[in-house]
Amino acid sequence: MKRIFSGVKPTGHLTLGNYLGAVRRWVEVDQHQADALFSVVDLHALTVEHNPARVRRLSLQAATLLLASGLDPERCTLFVQSHVDEHARLSYLLECTATDGELRRMIQYKEKSVRAREAEEGVRLSLLTYPVLMAADILAYGTDEVPVGEDQTQHVELTRDLAVRFNQRYGHVFTVPKATHPEVAARVMDLQDPTSKMGKSHENGAGIVYLLDEAETVRRKIMRAVTDSGREVVYDREESPGIANMVDLLAAATGCRAPAELAGAYDSYGALKKDTAEAVVELLRPVRERHAALAADPGYVERVLREGAERARGMARPMVDRAYRAIGLLPAA
Ligand code: AMP
Ligand code: TRP
Repeated sequence: MKRIFSGVKPTGHLTLGNYLGAVRRWVEVDQHQADALFSVVDLHALTVEHNPARVRRLSLQAATLLLASGLDPERCTLFVQSHVDEHARLSYLLECTATDGELRRMIQYKEKSVRAREAEEGVRLSLLTYPVLMAADILAYGTDEVPVGEDQTQHVELTRDLAVRFNQRYGHVFTVPKATHPEVAARVMDLQDPTSKMGKSHENGAGIVYLLDEAETVRRKIMRAVTDSGREVVYDREESPGIANMVDLLAAATGCRAPAELAGAYDSYGALKKDTAEAVVELLRPVRERHAALAADPGYVERVLREGAERARGMARPMVDRAYRAIGLLPAA
């Protein structure tokens, strides 16, 4: 059976971008057709300024939201990255495989390091090595497919390069994975700035729909979204990014695969926004309700995570041991 791995960082509250770009497919498709692992990748949250108590809280909240979204612990393995030592163990070997140059070329590093410098926070070394840890997450499980939003394509490409290079130098150890993306809404844009992605950690939340936003908040954010200067509802990501984003949201929320056709059915921005707002509210309603029920029983979530980590460890351990031997480290007697 195919192996799937994906993850989400506990750097902020989960957004509609996370849900449409990644989580919904994990729930609806991936966990049913593959041996799938999903991880709250908390080590990745330490690469930028962070508050320890907040990261801890967001990790539990992310796991709870993944369950509320419909991940079923009977069908997939859900765990917290730092509970499984193999990720950090393998990451070091991959640091010995990657080059400084290829990491400095990563778009996310370029963007985030500029922001950290501007805030005079200092660029953590882990921000540079982050994609190597991500590669370790993926390769430790012999992963075939990595379901992610489009922003992660470059990181998965790097993972492939590292797997191939390691295998060529030291013998075949790793499966070479590939990224998969949803057909619609693989890149959900910020409602206030439709040229940049809807990310959890923007300072201004007005353009971000969080999974736990109240219905009224979701409606307000969508109705106030920045649209474009034209009047016609056309699906054109270059010329009318605000409207194209809105159409994508409506298409994704209603299960329509042809956003361009959907755009043709509207003759005003207002009507499009209104329908989008209602569709998104309905999409998120069950998630929010299940989250409330699960949050009332943290013992359950903690048990799921404990069992998930045990299963994950059992899978990663032999793979990482094999990599240690292949690269030339003496096995412990
Ligand atoms: P992150 O929040 O960066 O940990 O992302 C977790 C998953 O959500 C990854 O697969 C991302 O590609 C996906 N994702 C995050 N933001 C968006 C977005 N605005 N549109 C589509 N997918 C996204
Ligand atoms: N880097 C990913 C993001 O920012 C999160 C992530 C970490 C991930 N490790 C992963 C995604 C492994 C897929 C597989 O969204």
